[in-house]
Amino acid sequence: MNTHTKYLGLDIESPIIAGSCGLTNDIEHLKQLEAAGAGAVIIKSVFEEQIIFDIKRNLSMMAPTDNYGMSYEYVASHVADDSLGKYFDLIREAKRQLHIPVIGSINCYSFENWMTYTQRFQEAGCDALELNMAILPYETTLSYEDVDRLFSDIINTLKKSVSIPVSIKVSQNFTDMANFMQRLSWMGINGITMFNKPLNVDIDVNTMQLHHAPSLSSPDELYNTLRWVAILCKKLRCDISASTGVHTADDVVKMLLAGAGTVQVVSCLYKNGVDYMRTLNDGLQAWMKSKGYDSVDQFRGMLAVKNNEQASMFFRTQFMKHFAEL
Ligand SMILES: Cc1cc2nc3c(=O)[nH]c(=O)nc-3n(C[C@H](O)[C@H](O)[C@H](O)COP(=O)(O)O)c2cc1C
Repeated sequence: MNTHTKYLGLDIESPIIAGSCGLTNDIEHLKQLEAAGAGAVIIKSVFEEQIIFDIKRNLSMMAPTDNYGMSYEYVASHVADDSLGKYFDLIREAKRQLHIPVIGSINCYSFENWMTYTQRFQEAGCDALELNMAILPYETTLSYEDVDRLFSDIINTLKKSVSIPVSIKVSQNFTDMANFMQRLSWMGINGITMFNKPLNVDIDVNTMQLHHAPSLSSPDELYNTLRWVAILCKKLRCDISASTGVHTADDVVKMLLAGAGTVQVVSCLYKNGVDYMRTLNDGLQAWMKSKGYDSVDQFRGMLAVKNNEQASMFFRTQFMKHFAEL
């Protein structure tokens, strides 16, 4: 059974990819994921926020008599080099030990650092880069034009500074989702990962304190991803990697039928162990065999929005017709 496909121009043997998370942060798990048939691995993101936090913590430990002004540049570059050095060591090690593509991931919020850091990913040897652009436009002063400009400035500058393929991982919160995704795809990026799962906050009503909501996805989060993959599959000029809510081999098949180029998994690996990647691959192959398909391309996108009937299913967000038929 041939599950070979291409993602971001890279040859991969399975469309199922290990998404960026704590399980892609050490060489042993990465090797296990490869052995279990992952098409590629996306290394845990480098977070600019964490680096800035480390810099501030180091500065706060300095004696008050130290000249902060003089030291800041030195401490900042030392701490950033140290944090990034470990990350790039992992990428180099992964490239030495794995045969599947190794994709770096970065989460930045300042324009300058996107540029500085991304070049260093390329130098470290990763095959592609996923930009984790999890930007929540929470400022009331921030308009959609500001968000738009931020994305286009970053993409345009970055495409000039690196030659490896670049994909963008986006959140689910855009006013003009279809239009914006299409415009992003016209900017020369190689792929869009739909979607990142935001870290949610919950309230404990007994202690009346804030705390983090569970970070793993639930299976019914699949449907939102499925909808947008199906709607956008024929409209974008780049690959779509489906992410969020994929928990079973059937879910993988659904995303491919909707038109995803690749399917990323994270929560199901946390729940079932990284060897679960093998179960997903076996399940995909068993389904293909049962339907008589020899390759993924024979059925990919078969249920993407192409005609009015499919459109009316995927575009409908309210229950009017459904209730009328009850
Ligand atoms: C523990 C954990 C750590 C994660 N770390 C990252 C990360 O560093 N970078 C990133 O882009 N996404 C990260 N994610 C998000 C996942 O890559 C993925 O987008 C999300 O979990 C939805 O996919 P799923 O339904 O398969 O879990 C993380 C998710 C979890 C649960």
